[in-house]
Amino acid sequence: MVTISRIRTKQAFWASIRWKILLAFFVIVGLSFFVAATTLTGQVSDYLFEQRTREDSLLTEKLATSAAPLFQSVSVEELNELLEESAVSMNGRLMLIDMDGKIQYDTFQTLCGQRIQVDEALQVLTGHQADAYGIHSPGKAVVEEMNGEKNADYLAYSAHEMTGFQGRIGVALFVSRVQSMMDSMGTVRWRLLSVFAIIAVAALILALVLSQVLTKPITALSRTMRRMGKGDLSVRVPVSGSGELRELAENYNTMAAQLESLDKTRNQFVSNASHELKTPLATMKIMLETMMYQPDMPTDLREEFMHDMNHEIDRLTGIITDLLVLTRMDNKDEMTRETVDMSELTQETVHLLLPAAEKKGQQLTDEIEPGLRLVGDRIKLNQILYNLMDNAIKYTPEQGRIHVSLREENGELVWRVHDNGIGIPEEDQEHIFERFYRVDKARSRETGGTGLGLSIVRQMVKMHGGTISVHSEPDSGSEFVVSFPREGVE
Ligand SMILES: Nc1ncnc2c1ncn2[C@@H]1O[C@H](COP(=O)(O)OP(=O)(O)O)[C@@H](O)[C@H]1O
Ligand SMILES: [Mg+2]
Repeated sequence: MVTISRIRTKQAFWASIRWKILLAFFVIVGLSFFVAATTLTGQVSDYLFEQRTREDSLLTEKLATSAAPLFQSVSVEELNELLEESAVSMNGRLMLIDMDGKIQYDTFQTLCGQRIQVDEALQVLTGHQADAYGIHSPGKAVVEEMNGEKNADYLAYSAHEMTGFQGRIGVALFVSRVQSMMDSMGTVRWRLLSVFAIIAVAALILALVLSQVLTKPITALSRTMRRMGKGDLSVRVPVSGSGELRELAENYNTMAAQLESLDKTRNQFVSNASHELKTPLATMKIMLETMMYQPDMPTDLREEFMHDMNHEIDRLTGIITDLLVLTRMDNKDEMTRETVDMSELTQETVHLLLPAAEKKGQQLTDEIEPGLRLVGDRIKLNQILYNLMDNAIKYTPEQGRIHVSLREENGELVWRVHDNGIGIPEEDQEHIFERFYRVDKARSRETGGTGLGLSIVRQMVKMHGGTISVHSEPDSGSEFVVSFPREGVE
């Protein structure tokens, strides 16, 4: 168990957005700085190096130019003086070499008369180039021997030809001290490298913080979703920050709230439905038991009981039928789409309900604009009007008046079912479309109502893209208005 979850967390980390942000950030910052640091170091080194080369070469050339006439006329005294002075001002060792490669003058005095071994000098002597420059690291001992600098790894040779009247007469060689320049190049490189390291660490920390900040809301969301997945629909994500993540959290919470209310509605519906089904069953059981334990019951009473039981069964059947209609609509049972002649349909429904109204001595009138058509589900449209008229007849006392009209108003088809019956109190009007809601439970049971009729109506109106409203006053009557948009009608 433990190992499995540990493995899962590990995998989750490599796959996580957090890790990706971290990596991206680090790669971008690290790489760009690394490139900047290396090019910068290279450029600084090049600059220092070039400058030194130019300086040394210029000095050597100057020396060669002033030494050449003295070298040619063998003015030993003057030449020695010139070399001594120059060696001090140039801070290095100076040698003059003749065309045979023999060292004629050396400010260190140690190599006079010997053959020159320095590449740069040989290049000038034997080649066509006027000068040569090179930095070498021949080892500390050689460096000290060659230019007198102790504990130095580098020295530089700068050679320049000396020319007389007939051309080249020898080579001037300047052995210079470059250790401090090489040191400062190293320092620059080291400094840049440490700045790079510091910035890399800072970038890493910043990336860590940033990825934490960025992924925190996502982690919170996913934790909440997991809890919700386990059945706790009341959990919400904390909404913080701004932008897309805030929007995500808000949208998620809206969705969660809707799910929760849906869940509540469903639970309530199930408990209401069970209650509604239980009541007639309990009534029937009482009557049945009374009949069982009183075999000598008067026949007329027995018959009345049987009649009542039959009535309860009808009610049960009615509730179950309505429930079936409702659940089928919940399942988004596809609705048929056909062109329905609404004028004809209204006329038919009025005819169908005329006997019921006449039975109560009610006056049922209609006012139907002819030829009005609508694209929709004929059976559902029929049910809408039937339920509304059925209510009007039920909730209007005997001798009352009921008026049905179908009209086109502002491009919409409008049904009005008007009665002068008992009306609906203001506070109940917003609830009558809810499932099982009845203003007067006792009276409604007598009339055989289930409390589902109007919720079915509302659902079906909605399916057709229409709206339903009610205007009612207790004791003076009610009017239900249904409007359908007429899009899609040819
Ligand atoms: N035309 C009306 N006049 C008065 N009250 C009405 C009318 N239509 C509906 N009602 C009230 O709205 C409630 C819900 O109606 P409905 O959903 O059709 O259920 P029922 O099965 O009771 O008819 C009814 O119980 C009744 O109290
Ligand atoms: Mg009804």
